[in-house]
Amino acid sequence: MSYDVVVIGAGPGGYVAAIKAAQLGLKTAIVEKRDTLGGTCLNVGCIPSKALLYASEIFASAQHGFEALGVSVSKPKLDLAGMMAHKQKTVDGNTSGVAFLMKKNKIDTIYGTAKILGAGKVEVAAKDGSKQTLETKNIIIATGSDVAGIPGLKIDIDEKVIVSSTGALSLAKVPQHMVVVGAGVIGSELGSVWSRLGAKVTVVEFLDKVLGPMDGEVSKQFQKLMEKQGIEYKLGAKVTGVEKTASGAKVTFEPVKGGSAETLEADIVLVATGRRPYTEGLGLKEAGVTLDERGRVNIDSHWQTNIAGIYAIGDVVKGPMLAHKAEDEGVALAEILAGQKGHVNYDVIPSVVYTEPEVASVGKTEEELKAAGIEYRVGKFPFSANGRARAMLKTDGFVKILACAKTDKVLGGHILGFGAGEMIHEIAVLMEFGGSSEDLARTCHAHPTMSEAVKEAALAAFSKPINM
Ligand code: FAD
Ligand code: NAI
Repeated sequence: MSYDVVVIGAGPGGYVAAIKAAQLGLKTAIVEKRDTLGGTCLNVGCIPSKALLYASEIFASAQHGFEALGVSVSKPKLDLAGMMAHKQKTVDGNTSGVAFLMKKNKIDTIYGTAKILGAGKVEVAAKDGSKQTLETKNIIIATGSDVAGIPGLKIDIDEKVIVSSTGALSLAKVPQHMVVVGAGVIGSELGSVWSRLGAKVTVVEFLDKVLGPMDGEVSKQFQKLMEKQGIEYKLGAKVTGVEKTASGAKVTFEPVKGGSAETLEADIVLVATGRRPYTEGLGLKEAGVTLDERGRVNIDSHWQTNIAGIYAIGDVVKGPMLAHKAEDEGVALAEILAGQKGHVNYDVIPSVVYTEPEVASVGKTEEELKAAGIEYRVGKFPFSANGRARAMLKTDGFVKILACAKTDKVLGGHILGFGAGEMIHEIAVLMEFGGSSEDLARTCHAHPTMSEAVKEAALAAFSKPINM
């Protein structure tokens, strides 16, 4: 069979690229080695984690959050199997939804492991051992990422006692003590799921801050709120060993600045120290496709690899490992392959941590602006001064807007608070249009909404807030 485009990998990068290519009239096939479509994101990433985050948040609210609102309920009982069933139903609905979209857009879905034989040729090996070769004008590599483990350490991640995010999404019972290695996004999200469900959670982190790349002020406040929820942090601590024991596992770590090693016993250890690009078995070396120093597929500004006709998008290339970044690259590349102009604005890619409260960010942090020598103004507004937040008892956190000191153009927005992941988008849209903090502050915002704190923070950046 001969195609215009063969996409390898049906994650958010690959399946979205396939849909857009088909919509633009290109004959398209997608190859996936999992039994279901949707990639890491739908199967073992974004979607199942959000199902558990939401369910555990409701469980925790029913335990501690209702009384102050005058709602009295009897002590809620955890039905972990039921919660996992909700997660699985959500995953199944989403992955079969992608299969439906493939059919709807007349995309050939081929299940099997793809290997690139060279420009224009992809071999697919099915699980039953049969092989077929697809001929195509263009190949899109969208094979995503896998768990990185801890650099320099050999750890047996058995997904039962020592788990990655995949195992942590399917634990059969609530651990008594969970040690999380890494206070990044996965450590924070899944650590908070199991903490809310009753585990004691200790997070061991190499850096001296949580959520490494986030704005420093947000990170500090976030840590305090997580500590209030019962999560314990060991910061500036380098994990040097994770081993199974008779009763569970132990984690050894030592201060980054030097000092004696410590050991923590746990019944579950979650290793959340990053992900690495996944290129195994793709035949890239033989096909002559080059990788960078971090194992990512090298691409040019139009996502083309060093071999004409072979492209790559998503987690397997440089940039943030985020589903929406992969999706936007998929759309832009499909447009280019169809002869249109495709573009991704890497300066405006929001990122959200779905804890309670949420953390959301777009554009530059204060640290980045300082390092770049850019003069900026800061506008901040706390949710404790927002009427809607007070009415809902969601007063933790704040909005911070960073604007250029000379032009007032908004350069970054950072929100810690209930619903931050939804509110961040008005700042993203503003930034996409090159808007100023005055533009944002003069846009009428409905009252009473949490979003009024965004308006007030913008007002604080160029003038003075009203309600503070
Ligand atoms: P993937 O989704 O990894 O898909 C790649 C696909 O390629 C896989 O299905 C794989 O089986 C297939 N494949 C690989 N090699 C081959 C081959 N040779 N032949 C055929 N198929 C192949 N991001 C967010 O933006 N928001 C979130 O809330 C979020 N939560 C996350 C939570 C967790 C626990 C994890 C682990 C990740 C999360 N992410 C989140 C990150 C997000 O999942 C990734 O950024 C996203 O899935 C990347 O998409 P992709 O299409 O590049 O790759
Ligand atoms: P991460 O890069 O966010 O965090 C890893 C952390 O581990 C870092 O803070 C690092 O300093 C620490 N670390 C590394 N080695 C260590 C050691 N030896 N000892 C102690 N600490 C150590 O990676 P994470 O959380 O695994 O997530 C992987 C990717 O998945 C991220 O890039 C993220 O983009 C994506 N993701 C996105 C989500 C979202 O958008 N909400 C949710 C979950 C994952």
